[in-house]
Amino acid sequence: MQQRRSRTKYLPTIGGEIVKWTVGGKGLPAKLLSCANRVLDRLTDEKISKMNGLDFRFSVAPMMDWTDRHCRVFHRALTRKAKLYSEMLTTGAVIRGDRERLLGFDACEHPVALQLGGSSPRDLAESAKIGEDFGYDEINLNVGCPSDRVQDGRFGACLMATPQLVGECVAAMKAKIRVPVTVKCRIGIDDQDPERSLDELARSVVTAGADALIVHARKAWLEGLSPKENRDIPPLDYDRVYRLKAAIPDVTISINGGITSIEEAKAHLQRVDGVMLGRAAYHEPWRLLAVDPELFGASSPHASMHEAIESLFPYIERERARGTRLHAITRHMVGAFHGVPGARAFRRALAENCVKTDAGVEQLREALRLVKSAVAFSSEVETGSREENASKQKKVADAAA
Ligand SMILES: Cc1cc2nc3c(=O)[nH]c(=O)nc-3n(C[C@H](O)[C@H](O)[C@H](O)COP(=O)(O)O)c2cc1C
Repeated sequence: MQQRRSRTKYLPTIGGEIVKWTVGGKGLPAKLLSCANRVLDRLTDEKISKMNGLDFRFSVAPMMDWTDRHCRVFHRALTRKAKLYSEMLTTGAVIRGDRERLLGFDACEHPVALQLGGSSPRDLAESAKIGEDFGYDEINLNVGCPSDRVQDGRFGACLMATPQLVGECVAAMKAKIRVPVTVKCRIGIDDQDPERSLDELARSVVTAGADALIVHARKAWLEGLSPKENRDIPPLDYDRVYRLKAAIPDVTISINGGITSIEEAKAHLQRVDGVMLGRAAYHEPWRLLAVDPELFGASSPHASMHEAIESLFPYIERERARGTRLHAITRHMVGAFHGVPGARAFRRALAENCVKTDAGVEQLREALRLVKSAVAFSSEVETGSREENASKQKKVADAAA
C-alpha cells in the first residue's frame, strides 16, 4: 500500500491556541484526507497568522503590577474568550532579564498577549521573537504609557511624536514573528491635533503590517500629569476612534478608556471591532462572567464567582508548592464579590487571613464560605443555567453597588 504523506501545519483552535496538526499517515479516510490537504494547501502563512483564532472583540488591558500571571489565571476562570494582556515588559528586561520569571505563564491563559515597551526596532524584534517562542498569541507594542521612566527610555506615549519610528518597530517585529503584532496607542500627546496624530500613527503602523490597533481614546499629557491622572483627566474622545475605524474599515480597531460595563462594551462594538477594559475588569472582575454569554454567545466557564474561584484551587496548590504566597493570587480577588452580601467579610478574610505566609487553599475556602452563607447571593444567584447565573450575579451586584 502506498505510504501516505504526513505533513504538519499550524492551525487555529477554539480559544486561540495554535497547535500542530498532522494530516496524513494512518487513520484518516482517503477522501477526508485529500479534502483536508486541499484546504491546508490553500492556507498561506499569512492567512494562518490572520486567522489564528485571536478574537479582538473583548480584552482585558495590560496593567503594570496588576495583570500578572496570577491575575490572568483568575480572569481566565471568568471568561474563556477574552484576550488577556501581560503587564508591559521592556525590551531590556526581556532580552537580559530572568525570562522564565518575567515571561512564564500558565497554559490556561491563552489567548494571551505580551506587551512590549521599547523603541529600538532591533531589540523589539528580538523581544517579540522571545515572546513568540514562549507561546504568546500576540505581541503588542506600548505607544500609550506616559510615565517618566518610560519617557526617559524614549518609548511609550512619547512615540506618538515619531510615527515613522513606530512603523519601523512594527515592521521589524513582523519580519521576525508569525503571531499578530498590534499597537496600543493614545489619540495624541500634548498639543498634537488628534485628527493628524492618530491618522499618522495608524497609517505608519498599518503600512508596516500591524494586525490591529488598540486606541486609548484620550490624549496623554506628558508634562505635569502623573500616569494615574493621565488615565482620567485628558477628556475621552470615542468619536475620534470611531472616525479612525470608518476611515480604515479593513483594519481591526479596538477601543479603550473609561468603559465601565459590558453594556457599554456592546454599544462600542457597533462602531469598532473590539473593546478593551482595564480598571473596570480589575476592580469588578465579576463583570467578566458575563463576557462570554453576552458578547460571544457562549457559555461562561463557570456558573458563579464561587465556582470560578473554587476551580482555581488546584492551580493555587501547585503554586503554593512552588513557594508562591496565597496573597500573590488572592490580591486580585478583592473585588470578586463587590456589592453582594458577605462581600465585606470576604475582603476582610483576604486582608487578614489570606496574607499570612503559610496561608493556603483552606483560608481561601473559609473566605468563600463567608459569602456563601449570605442569603441573597446563594439562593438568588446560583440556581439557573450558566448564562442566567452570570447575568443574575451581575444584576445583584449592579443593584447593590
Ligand atoms: C495600574 C495600571 C497599570 C497600567 N499599566 C499599563 C501598561 O503596562 N501598559 C499599557 O499599555 N497601559 C497600562 N495601563 C493603562 C490601561 O491599559 C488602560 O489603557 C487604561 O487604564 C484605560 O482603560 P480603563 O479606563 O478601562 O482602565 C495601566 C493602567 C492601570 C490602572
